[in-house]
Amino acid sequence: MSRNFILIIIGLAVVIAIAIASIFGLDTATFNNHWEQAIPNQEIPEGLTSLSSKECGSCHKDHYDEWNTSTHSMAWKDLQFQAEIAKESSPYMCINCHIPLANQQEYLITGLEDGDIYKPIKEKNPLFDSELQQEGINCASCHVRNGAVLSVTVSNRAPHKSVQDKTHLTEQLCIACHNAVAVVTPELVCTFETGDEWMAGPFAETKNCKTCHMPSIDRPIAEEYPVRKSRMHYFMGSGIPKLDSLKPERLDGLHYEFAGIKRSYKATDSVVLKTEVINKFAGHKVPTGDPERFIITKLSVFNTANGELIAVDSFRIGEHWEWYPVAKKIADNNLNPGESRFYQIAALLPVGYYNFELKAYKYRTTAAHIKYNKLGDSYPSHIQFYEKTIPFKVE
Ligand code: HEC
Ligand code: HEC
Ligand code: HEC
Ligand code: HEC
Ligand code: HEC
Repeated sequence: MSRNFILIIIGLAVVIAIAIASIFGLDTATFNNHWEQAIPNQEIPEGLTSLSSKECGSCHKDHYDEWNTSTHSMAWKDLQFQAEIAKESSPYMCINCHIPLANQQEYLITGLEDGDIYKPIKEKNPLFDSELQQEGINCASCHVRNGAVLSVTVSNRAPHKSVQDKTHLTEQLCIACHNAVAVVTPELVCTFETGDEWMAGPFAETKNCKTCHMPSIDRPIAEEYPVRKSRMHYFMGSGIPKLDSLKPERLDGLHYEFAGIKRSYKATDSVVLKTEVINKFAGHKVPTGDPERFIITKLSVFNTANGELIAVDSFRIGEHWEWYPVAKKIADNNLNPGESRFYQIAALLPVGYYNFELKAYKYRTTAAHIKYNKLGDSYPSHIQFYEKTIPFKVE
């Protein structure tokens, strides 16, 4: 997220809280959004010895291996996150969606001095567990509440206390973290609207976050247990790794069409090579979430005989923000679900053989931002997710 990560729901809430606190002369503010506070310290469910994903993974190996490739498992360790929270401009609540259980946090926050989000009142957390902290959004973050493992279905075969809960493990769990609009300070704004985008879009009635990001599969959920209904835990998304060595699974949202490209043109034609990009598969905008994400589609024309680059152009999908003095969105051409856009490249070409080439890249952030935050040369900024070459001739 940008260094100016700005938090908006709180915006109002905090402003109101501060106003109330000052009216009544209170020195602590009330918390209005779930992410202003950690999930309270959780007890280890009966039958287990720890809340760690590692322990869950000793029996739920597939779930563990899948989760381990996901960015959820990197939500704390990510170098960019570490660089951002080290900054004075980052308030205490940044960690509540990244290491959501109090057990993962060194301090308990009991209030705010003068209602100031930069002056949290801290107490040492006796149940702080640094191993859990490293795991970011771990199994227990989503599954453990009130001394039990929550599940949509319960087999009564688990060696741990399991409780059936049909309301907790729904898309609302995802939206709680993936939808937050808040102005924390003039330069610090948070805009994740994935939940709102999904609700406003064509998939709201048919597919939810789990349908696409946790596809169904029938399998045993622990070794030597019978096959049952399960969901994959890759939480696959952009597929942009946080570490060179980590290979998160990717979902493709965009589809490219090439109906506007002929195999043969006349030398007297002005050659116009046209392509259409459609947000066909994502249940929300592409990109979504972090305003720093963007997509580059690069169109090129090469002479087949000698490989010479004859024409090239790039097109960007994403947001533009100005952070100083006040955070402000300048532009946003993110693609809505179902929305499409046309790109073209034109050239006057002599008789010969050519290749039209399209390459598409998804960026998490810019190289400049990586450098600014001193994340190192090997920190991955983007992936190439698509490539297509179409030969044509001019006669
Ligand atoms: C010692 C092995 C073991 C450990 C450790 C373990 N589980 Fe389980 N778990 C099982 C078994 C066995 C089942 C039942 C399998 C079946 O009936 O298909 C189960 C079932 C479940 C279910 C489905 C609900 C149910 O009871 O049928 C969930 C969800 C679950 N475990 C999550 C977790 C989480 C989260 C952790 C870590 C906090 C964890 N488990 C740790 C063995 C384990
Ligand atoms: C406790 C807060 C929290 C919950 C609950 C949560 N997420 Fe996330 N999610 C995050 C954070 C934080 C990241 C980014 C971690 C990072 O970049 O280091 C993330 C990353 C992701 C990504 C990967 C984005 C990418 O391409 O890099 C996907 C996909 C995703 N979450 C889907 C889901 C789904 C589906 C659910 C519900 C089943 C869910 N999340 C529940 C906080 C949460
Ligand atoms: C971001 C939230 C989230 C995290 C993190 C998470 N789970 Fe889940 N888990 C879910 C949801 C949602 C379901 C599916 C509920 C349903 O059936 O619709 C689920 C279902 C399960 C089930 C029931 C069987 C199945 O596969 O559907 C097991 C077992 C399970 N999870 C184990 C784990 C383990 C082990 C980890 C850690 C390695 C983990 N989960 C991490 C959200 C999460
Ligand atoms: C119809 C399927 C579908 C639904 C429903 C859906 N997503 Fe996605 N999501 C995708 C696809 C496909 C992508 C990959 C976009 C791309 O990079 O092309 C994606 C990407 C993401 C990302 C990565 C952001 C980025 O731009 O790289 C996050 C985070 C995410 N989804 C969260 C959610 C949450 C939370 C929900 C529920 C509110 C949800 N998604 C609902 C299909 C879906
Ligand atoms: C409401 C929950 C929430 C809070 C609070 C929150 N984050 Fe996040 N953060 C997320 C989610 C969700 C993602 C993943 C977004 C996506 O992939 O679309 C994320 C991703 C990130 C990333 C990775 C961005 C990338 O390009 O992959 C960084 C860095 C980050 N957050 C920093 C912060 C900082 C700093 C704060 C406090 C100012 C903060 N976060 C507070 C939910 C939150």
